[in-house]
Amino acid sequence: SRSLSLAVIPGDGIGQEVVAEGLKVLSAVLPQDVKLETREFDFGAKRYHATGQTLTDEDLDRLKEHDAILLGAIGDPSVPSGVLERGFLLKLRFAFDHHVNLRPSKLFPGVGTPLAGSPEIDFVVVREGTEGPYTGNGGSIRTGTPQEVATEVSLNTAFGIERVVRDAYARAQARPRKKLTLVHKNNVLVHAGHLWTRIFQAVGAEYPEVSTDYLHVDAATIFLVTQPERFDVIVTDNLFGDIITDLAAAVSGGIGVAASGNINPGREFPSMFEPVHGSAPDIAGQSKADPTATVLSVALLLRHLGYDTEADRIDAAVQADLAERADLPVRSTVEIGDALAARVSG
Ligand code: IPM
Ligand code: MN
Repeated sequence: SRSLSLAVIPGDGIGQEVVAEGLKVLSAVLPQDVKLETREFDFGAKRYHATGQTLTDEDLDRLKEHDAILLGAIGDPSVPSGVLERGFLLKLRFAFDHHVNLRPSKLFPGVGTPLAGSPEIDFVVVREGTEGPYTGNGGSIRTGTPQEVATEVSLNTAFGIERVVRDAYARAQARPRKKLTLVHKNNVLVHAGHLWTRIFQAVGAEYPEVSTDYLHVDAATIFLVTQPERFDVIVTDNLFGDIITDLAAAVSGGIGVAASGNINPGREFPSMFEPVHGSAPDIAGQSKADPTATVLSVALLLRHLGYDTEADRIDAAVQADLAERADLPVRSTVEIGDALAARVSG
């Protein structure tokens, strides 16, 4: 019989609540012969306050023992900004070489969008996850004085760009529209931008069926609002990807439905799946959070591990649930989780 061993990190705030529903749906969708083993980890603000630790080398060793990681959300106003972001989330992404940060955007029928009309939105952003300005490569001198100078150097390696660009081409090739857009800012960031552009073109020669396109990141934000249907797969650097995926979430149903995967495609390390939203301390503990983004992240997790049928069932359940939502009274986190679990098992 098969087994799926999952590291579960509920984290802070609504993370606890949405992860419980994600696991509920996961248990409901898995075939009988798959043995699901979960191990919970207590990372987050509470542990940081109690021990001063965010993520230790021993923690990483224990996480490594699992097939995948499901994360709720990490972050709390009681912890200074940057401590958990750098010390936990980014540390995990870097340690496990999550170089493909996958963020699909799909506007499901019946779901509201601030955009005019009812645009077709169905694209996926392949955001580079381990380089760019996220590496902590910078510093400041004369700190705290009027003469302070600070740098954040964007790191771009040919190796790092090529592997994420290849991943994006393969994803575009597998989709009906077979279209890939590179988003960068190569008119200003000429060194990194030209490296990205050259590699993008070179790898493209191996994918003659994929049509390609280039947009500066500022122009991309316009088209994401005025013509989101033009996008199929987007590949971009870490920081541009961070920004445009929040915009993408905003136009395609909001962060309540935005899922993401921090993927190590070669499966050398476990990949980590998480809703794009944060811990939302303002609504924590009230069963108000929408667990849909976590449930869709579970679908990405299943797809990564080869459970395509089960992932499809979750996507279909979410689509059906969202289609009916407008006619229903507002439901709690648990009620939405129950409804989705019932749909995937029914
Ligand atoms: C995200 C978040 C993180 C990022 C932060 C919390 C470090 O905004 O997952 O998009 O910038 O990648
Ligand atoms: Mn972000």
